[in-house]
Amino acid sequence: MAEPALEESLEVSFELNGEPTHVTVAPRTLLVDALREQGAKSVHIGCDEGLCGACTVLLDGDAVKACLLLAVQVQNRRVETLEAHQGPDLDALQRAFRDEFG
Ligand code: FES
Repeated sequence: MAEPALEESLEVSFELNGEPTHVTVAPRTLLVDALREQGAKSVHIGCDEGLCGACTVLLDGDAVKACLLLAVQVQNRRVETLEAHQGPDLDALQRAFRDEFG
């Protein structure tokens, strides 16, 4: 199978915080950039090399660093960001971060 050309756009479908999501990205678009373009502003770009964890999301329930993944790698997978935890539980989550100096 031929590799996609670098300038080619690819359709990627995945679940973002429980919602079916479809994006059109370049083959080398990082997941962190695709998520922020979808409004997931809790996902930050810090070091951009997998060291700081500012871009951490859940991928099929496992914590991963979105700056180390390509958007195309989440095809048909489930991505969860902090936006999924807005609501009454956020206070508890914020307390946990404060209590543990997160
Ligand atoms: Fe630092 Fe991803 S931006 S680990």
